[in-house]
Amino acid sequence: MNDNNNPAANSNEHRPLRLLFVCLGNICRSPAAEAVMRKKLSEMPGQGRDIIVDSAGLGPWHAGQLPDSRMRRAGAARGYDISSIARQIREADFGRYTYIIGMDNENMRALRRLKDDAIRHGVVSENDCAKLLCAADFMTHHPDYKTVPDPYYGNERDFRLALDLIEDACDGIIEKVKR
Ligand code: 4NP
Repeated sequence: MNDNNNPAANSNEHRPLRLLFVCLGNICRSPAAEAVMRKKLSEMPGQGRDIIVDSAGLGPWHAGQLPDSRMRRAGAARGYDISSIARQIREADFGRYTYIIGMDNENMRALRRLKDDAIRHGVVSENDCAKLLCAADFMTHHPDYKTVPDPYYGNERDFRLALDLIEDACDGIIEKVKR
């Protein structure tokens, strides 16, 4: 059947799943989450190939830059290629992604404000708007952590911890989206 004649073809249900990871700068946590999720999906036989994964930052400061070298090194040690170029999130993203996934409570507050703005400005309808998720809500092996803490002002151990938490969260998010 021609998709133009099929109303379901235009609903969210039949669009490829699109995930946007978001943190403050888009040079540490969210590009790492993008790389971890891509690798995990690529290792899932048959599934996951149609899922689009991207990342963005709430702030403009690092747009155009490669991820932080400490994050790149920590990722490379586990086989992740963390190399996406930073960009700032925009209102149009709320119409393009199925899920927008923040890393900490401050990210979630900013994302809720941006989402409301995108709807109020008519960039996207409430129905078609991305759903907001917090990465930490999907972690099952780190009960002491309610967020993925920002490692930017930390040391190498903080970067490894961020990766541990991100790997945990990605496993949980995959379980959710598989359903
Ligand atoms: P991210 O880490 O949000 O995980 O990318 C940060 C990177 C840069 C800054 C803050 C957090 N910054 O203030 O420049």
